Amino acid sequence: MGVNDLSINPSGYILGIESTAHTFSIGVADSNGYPLDSVSVAVRPLKGGIHPREAADHHAQKGAEVLQKLLKLHDLNPSDFAAVSFSQGPGLGPCLRIGASVARTISQKWRIPLLGVNHCVAHIEVGRKTCGCDDPVLLYVSGGNTQIIAKMDGRYRVLGETLDIGIGNMLDKFAREQGIPFPGGPKIEALAKEWVENNPTAKLEDYSLPYAVQGMDLAFSGVLNAACNLIKKGAPLGAVCWSIQEHTFAACIEVAERALAHTSKSELLLGGGVACNSRLREMSEIMSNERNATSFVPERKFCVDNGSMIAVLGQLHLLHEDITELSESSVLQYLRTDQTPILWA
Ligand code: ATP
Ligand code: FE2
Repeated sequence: MGVNDLSINPSGYILGIESTAHTFSIGVADSNGYPLDSVSVAVRPLKGGIHPREAADHHAQKGAEVLQKLLKLHDLNPSDFAAVSFSQGPGLGPCLRIGASVARTISQKWRIPLLGVNHCVAHIEVGRKTCGCDDPVLLYVSGGNTQIIAKMDGRYRVLGETLDIGIGNMLDKFAREQGIPFPGGPKIEALAKEWVENNPTAKLEDYSLPYAVQGMDLAFSGVLNAACNLIKKGAPLGAVCWSIQEHTFAACIEVAERALAHTSKSELLLGGGVACNSRLREMSEIMSNERNATSFVPERKFCVDNGSMIAVLGQLHLLHEDITELSESSVLQYLRTDQTPILWA
């Protein structure tokens, strides 16, 4: 089905399907590309990490129900939509394939164009759209990804990134070791906050952890091992949660600050699930103020994986008639942030 076989509704909504990992979400952007609320479901393994195939089965079972709920929530019908976008990558193959096949089916049935988009770029564009920043350095901190990104020469370039695991993955693994269920980040935040309120004179050096910065890159597995060792040696859980946050967030902010200096940009944008964390938001604000930059933090519902951010980016692709043919709609598990040209720059 080519572009010319489709009637594009210029005032139509964009449907966005997110299915890169544990979350299956369908969202909407209006014809100006502004995101509305998504409907999301997530697998929450009781034991161990997420199993890609089990997550994919979960997403496949929930797909139709999520779509119905979304249409009902916004009182929309298939004829209200101009296009359907989906996360083409990066992510877990089995999960991505469910999202892609739901999107292809909708494209065929509703006779609207298909838009395969880059999940990481969607985290940037939803932040730009909802926070009103223009040309930010993005600190993208999620379970699977930790990257410092900025636009240069028509692409979003990765200026620094984790050399091992994502920061959220490190938080989730530490939490799991302590018997805290997935996702661990919010509980670690709560424990850290409570502990520091009860121990205002605590010293960070008493719960020291490795330095996570390596040049412009980051590394978190050493922090994870050291944090688990502190617990084994009897350190209070709250103290270790506090120390993990202080050390690793400071590392991310340090690299982001260097990226601002290097690119001469003056906007710092947070994105990804870990950007829900109030302490990280505070550190980002403090650093930005110190260097006369502005810190932008999207609403939490747009930081975590959500279908509406996929729709926001889909709308930009549609504006530039960058439509995905069925033959090119296979998922791209290892898609890189800088592989996607920014046609809307
Ligand atoms: P991506 O595919 O972009 O890597 P993801 O699959 O990890 O994303 P997200 O929803 O962006 O999904 O992020 C989930 C992560 O965010 C989890 O690791 C979770 O622990 C972490 N997280 C959520 N809320 C908080 C919080 N308040 N503090 C710290 N971490 C948090
Ligand atoms: Fe994400």
